[in-house]
Amino acid sequence: MTLRNAEVTGWGRYMPSLVVTNRDLVDFVDTSDEWIQSRTGIKQRHYSHVSTGEMGWLAAERALAAAGLSAADLDLVILGSTTPDDVCPNTASYIKNKLGASDAAAFDLNSACTSWFYGLTVATDMIKAGTIQRALVIGAERLSLAMDWNKRESCCLFGDGAGAVVVQSSSADVGLLSSKLSCVPDSRDYLRIPCWGIRPEVHTGGLHPSLDFDGAAIFKRAIVAMAKDCQQALGAAGMSLEDIDLFVPHQANIRIIEGLARRLNFPVEKTVICIDKYANTSAASMPIALYEALDSGRLKPGMTILMATFGAGLSSGAGVLRWGDRVGGEGVSDAAIPAYDQSVRELLSDSFSYHGVVCKSQSVGQ
Ligand code: UT7
Repeated sequence: MTLRNAEVTGWGRYMPSLVVTNRDLVDFVDTSDEWIQSRTGIKQRHYSHVSTGEMGWLAAERALAAAGLSAADLDLVILGSTTPDDVCPNTASYIKNKLGASDAAAFDLNSACTSWFYGLTVATDMIKAGTIQRALVIGAERLSLAMDWNKRESCCLFGDGAGAVVVQSSSADVGLLSSKLSCVPDSRDYLRIPCWGIRPEVHTGGLHPSLDFDGAAIFKRAIVAMAKDCQQALGAAGMSLEDIDLFVPHQANIRIIEGLARRLNFPVEKTVICIDKYANTSAASMPIALYEALDSGRLKPGMTILMATFGAGLSSGAGVLRWGDRVGGEGVSDAAIPAYDQSVRELLSDSFSYHGVVCKSQSVGQ
């Protein structure tokens, strides 16, 4: 029987045009650039003026062009997201229709920040089983809509954006060689967006999205869970850390990334870090980091990559990915989204009003 693997052949991302620095946040959050940088490594984030579906669509167009495929070639579109525009119908079908992927199935997958990696595992296993040949796996998030600007412990940490990869059947020894998915017991309360489902009180209580979390509790559990998943994924691939050329972790906090590298005894110099530019983009963070590694020339043909992730649930996961020969795209998409030409204050005006936020610059002289 011919060996069937799932090679990553295309990659793309979309970062919204509006960049919001830590100093910009100080205008409406009780925080400081010094605190955010020293505790998280974040300097800025992007906030989106378009929907999760639009962001995911553009990242997907770019990934398809890089793979040299047309949308009609796709069998499956998976959208990993905690912030889909619609739950019914799902948001993946919006992207599928806008791409023109007429023969593709489409579903959303939500395991919070781990959603894209979970989706990559599902698509890979479906390709290996022969169920499908080609899939798009997208991670897209518009978490700026879920922030409560009065909760400084969480609202400074997240950003918006989208990343996507094309995976397709290959007989070469490439793609996700192993994957370990986990969910830490009794840890659902550490990170939640309480009014994001169909509970009756959501529709009667005048509630607004407001992300709650216990950062310190997540911090410790995330490192322990990811380290365990990494060891299991390495074991399943018959590898050790010496075989790893590059580490692409979920970008939630630079101290978590460094803590994980220390616990694994893995050199932090071989780790992709871009949290300073994009903050935590949840399900989009890993495909965005992967793109960053390609764009900067760090990801070379044939490299063996370790990936690790965690999110609400607490879900976690890790995998070993072998890259193919190609690190440049076959083509470039000319699809685009017009830039936003107003300020963060205009973008977030509804959210400010329902969270009762007054910008400091507005109150000057009052
Ligand atoms: O991808 C999944 C989602 N991401 C996460 O779950 C992130 C995991 N957790 C973390 O990254 C870190 O725990 C945080 C960055 C959230 C917090 O870092 P920490 O070192 O654990 O700080 P802390 O929660 O222990 O807070 C320390 C202090 C507190 O003040 P007191 O009580 O010591 O006086 C907070 O009130 O820092 C204060 N603080 C802030 N100060 C200025 C919390 N947030 C802020 C802020 N600006 N934005």
